[in-house]
Amino acid sequence: MLCRLSDLADPGGRGFTFGQFPQQFSMFVVRQGDHAFAYVNDCPHARSPLDWVPDQFLDHSRTYIQCATHGARFRINDGYCVSGPCTGDALKPISIAIRKGEVVIAEV
Ligand code: FES
Repeated sequence: MLCRLSDLADPGGRGFTFGQFPQQFSMFVVRQGDHAFAYVNDCPHARSPLDWVPDQFLDHSRTYIQCATHGARFRINDGYCVSGPCTGDALKPISIAIRKGEVVIAEV
């Protein structure tokens, strides 16, 4: 389990890091209502993490994921970049599921 859906603000997000450098893996989950979406925490523009403040993945209006480095904005539901230096590119999705209120990595 990554977290409970109710642990996340609506809308809001949380980052997760697994392992140790150099095998470290970082991802984040964003909640939007009863749904949650997950992406690798790696901006397609300059390959940097999106959050410069931990767990702050959304823009001021809380309607887009925003990269803190150069301001690219991504749709929450599919990670597509709608503005910024990597417009037309997308975040790498991670398949998750919500089971009994728990956000989990989906089985493949
Ligand atoms: S690194 Fe994300 S917009 Fe440049």
